[in-house]
Amino acid sequence: MHDHKISTKFTVFESSDELSATEQELLQKAIEIRDSAYAPYSGFNVGASVLMQNNEVIVGNNQENAAYPSGVCAERVAIWSAMSTFPDGKIKKIFISARSDKTAVDRPVAPCGACRQAIAEYETKQHQDIEIFFTGEFGEIVKANSIKDLLPWMFDNSMLS
Ligand code: THU
Repeated sequence: MHDHKISTKFTVFESSDELSATEQELLQKAIEIRDSAYAPYSGFNVGASVLMQNNEVIVGNNQENAAYPSGVCAERVAIWSAMSTFPDGKIKKIFISARSDKTAVDRPVAPCGACRQAIAEYETKQHQDIEIFFTGEFGEIVKANSIKDLLPWMFDNSMLS
């Protein structure tokens, strides 16, 4: 018997001023699309922007449903749109921003488990790490260099064979 320890790493930016110009634009796109999310039930609006290897940017926001589980998160809307449009494309970066109608979201909002699994699928497929940046409406921006830092010991297709 032995213990196994996994450590993960994140970079914390105090403000968007610390991001590159490209990253600031990507964050802005996530914020813009966040504010047109369809979230009448939770009042929690999330936006995501995806930078592809070919420099195309695809955005998405959360789409809720009166049958609650039928709704989908912003990250998966953006990622699936990106991969439908560019099926052989590679994702370089994803930016996520969240805002609430009820409270000031002043801490970073990390992607949910299902969205982490979706990001993991494409990181595995493309054999190239995906940078994940997430924030609230105000405050710090957190960056993970790979989904492996957000979803250590993940399930992937290597376990199917
Ligand atoms: N949501 C996202 O869009 N992304 C996440 O990573 C977490 C949650 C959405 C789903 C739902 O529409 C609302 O936020 C409240 O959970």
